[in-house]
Amino acid sequence: MLTALAFSLALQTPTPTVTTEQDHRETLAMLGIQTLRPYADGMVPTAPNAANTTESKAWIWGDVPPLMKFSDGSEIKSREDWQRRRGELLEAFDREVYGRTPKRLPKVTWTLVEEKQEKIGDFDVIRKSLKGVVDNRSYPAISVEIPLTLVTPAGAKGKVPVILEFGFGMRPGGAAGPNRQNQAPAWTQQILKRGWGYAVIVPNAYQADSGAGLRSGIIGLVNKGKLRKPDDWGALKAWAWGASRALDYLQSDKAVDGKKVAIEGLSRYGKATLVTMVYEPRFAAGFVGSSGAGGVKLWRRDFGERETNLASSGEYHWMTPNFIKYAGPLTPADLPVDQHQFLALCAPRPVFVGTGSPNVEGHWVDSRGMFISTALASPAWELLGSSGLPTSVMPKEDSGLTDSVLAFRQHSGGHTNGPNWASFLDWFGRVLNISTSPRQN
Ligand code: GCU
Repeated sequence: MLTALAFSLALQTPTPTVTTEQDHRETLAMLGIQTLRPYADGMVPTAPNAANTTESKAWIWGDVPPLMKFSDGSEIKSREDWQRRRGELLEAFDREVYGRTPKRLPKVTWTLVEEKQEKIGDFDVIRKSLKGVVDNRSYPAISVEIPLTLVTPAGAKGKVPVILEFGFGMRPGGAAGPNRQNQAPAWTQQILKRGWGYAVIVPNAYQADSGAGLRSGIIGLVNKGKLRKPDDWGALKAWAWGASRALDYLQSDKAVDGKKVAIEGLSRYGKATLVTMVYEPRFAAGFVGSSGAGGVKLWRRDFGERETNLASSGEYHWMTPNFIKYAGPLTPADLPVDQHQFLALCAPRPVFVGTGSPNVEGHWVDSRGMFISTALASPAWELLGSSGLPTSVMPKEDSGLTDSVLAFRQHSGGHTNGPNWASFLDWFGRVLNISTSPRQN
């Protein structure tokens, strides 16, 4: 006879454990892929598979697919056409690149863990530590929580705009953590000075940043710890889902102007920021920092990081399994889409594309490739009555194109959003018509 205890133990199936290499191997076997082309080596310039950094060798995969044409070649002329094209593009990106976010996802319940009035740097603030607990009754072996910190100015007169960051970690005390943004004054202080607030979400807490982690976190929970199917979602989409749940909370908090919440991230979280902007229309703006391959950079440009890196065991978990095909039997030339089309899916909403200097940041993220992609995406903003980049000539470092709703800026520093923060915040205030209420130090 099954006792109540035995019954509840039977439900607690242990969390499946696999290594990243195992999960990657099983994924390749599921797709019927024997071998992958070598990924680019960004460290050793003399390696046979060294990353290309020569502009004249960048276009080996041919021209990018046109933005303003349907897949049957007919022209896109109206907003209605664009809406239909948007559907076509989303289907291709879901199936081949980032995966399908499951239709039914468990509910998240937000709890306030701690609320404190304190001083952060020069400013008096209210800091709230929160956790979003995901309903795991469908598979109790896996628990998932979304950690979120919200900091707003103490004594604010009304609801404030908030910038939500995909954070690399948290410092004790819950302030924004070591996010490679080593400029002075810190971005958080720049925001508070304007009388606005910021929030930090920790994406790898609800979806680990590894292939081994695909059997747990929100992906594992929904999948009951099994191997992903060919078009299942990857970590970038899972991270974006968490940002949407954080926005649910932020829109319910009386200190926050829920219509003026921007999302920001750097590098892998720059990619996640772009994905979030495409799939979550409630975010008012996005600051997509040094997103490179899998972000704004074009797949058809062989410069810096390659699609083969994102198909390798170190990064495939960001993408849908189907994407790996383009590093094996197929090539980027076979992809039905390219990333200027993905960026265009954000139109007509405000997006700020940022990058650093190739001399300091290196060539890995392909700043020029990101600029070309942004310029190629611009007609979508224009068609929808907004503004894309005004030129296809890349601006000099530290002088961005930030008068338009789709903006681009390359700073002269390294792999950080740091030097772009002031321009981003000015632009955000301008495009959203936000009046600042500067705070005294
Ligand atoms: C690696 C990876 C990049 C990624 C970066 C980061 O360099 O290849 O795609 O953007 O890590 O997140 O810092």
